[in-house]
Amino acid sequence: MPRIAYVNGEYVRHSQAAVHIEDRGYQFADGVYEVCEISRGNIMDMSGHLDRLDRSLCELSIAWPVSRRVLQLLFKEVVRRNKVKNGLVYLQITRGVAPRDHAFPSPEVRPSLVITAKRTSPEVSAARAAAGLKVITVPENRWDRVDIKSVGLLPNVLARQKAKEAGAQEAWFVDPDGTVKEGAATNAWIVTSDGVLVTRPADHGILRGITRGTVMKVAETLNLKVEERSFTVDEAFRAREAFITAATTVVMPVVEIDGITIANGHPGNVATSLRQQFFEVAEKTIA
Ligand code: PDD
Repeated sequence: MPRIAYVNGEYVRHSQAAVHIEDRGYQFADGVYEVCEISRGNIMDMSGHLDRLDRSLCELSIAWPVSRRVLQLLFKEVVRRNKVKNGLVYLQITRGVAPRDHAFPSPEVRPSLVITAKRTSPEVSAARAAAGLKVITVPENRWDRVDIKSVGLLPNVLARQKAKEAGAQEAWFVDPDGTVKEGAATNAWIVTSDGVLVTRPADHGILRGITRGTVMKVAETLNLKVEERSFTVDEAFRAREAFITAATTVVMPVVEIDGITIANGHPGNVATSLRQQFFEVAEKTIA
């Protein structure tokens, strides 16, 4: 069965799906995106992802290409047409197609909308979670509007590549004061020696992860305390556990940071419980 993509009002074969060479997403990274997890036929936390999409569009003065209600239907339709039961749905909206000029097109042009879906293997993710991930740290070198989920991801791409070359799976951006911001495509967490979950406040300097928000609710159901505060790489080395969160990973234990083993080098109970309980707590929309 061929994969199907949605591109500006049409369902097309994924292999032939294309946007114009003067799409501003292509030329300027002038666009935003969202990724939702699909689990057992459900789109997870769709409302949260659409709320954040609304915020990202608003911050960049890009109009919604279709209404929120229509977008929800398109999400479901793309998942359905690709027969994805477990996987990811990806959405990208750019300012549209116009002759290359840095300033916004005037008059305004129609924003471009692309939606794709792909399958992922729950068995492979479970195996990754059972083994735990390795993380490296890299100096923060991104702009200060990383709260906007923009497709301008070059520092994230370079950081993730550096992690890969170091035999790790994620890179944590670190500020000059030694505090951890977030991963190249995930939020960063630790569990202190007295069992408190710590993650950086999401006012600015990190993306307010939708998974991060749901994990806070899961923690509440497990009677775990969460502190939103900065933590240093040094504190992470000494933590009882470390883990990352994102729609692509849900909760993934981290067992090594910069070559230093965290605790006993095995995924911890807290990360494992949060991962197990996630599906129960997250909002589920049948695709
Ligand atoms: N990344 N921080 C960054 C920089 C991210 O790119 C992401 C998500 C997150 C976690 O957000 P959420 O929980 O809403 O997925 C945090 C997506 C999955 C990606 O780029 O593929």
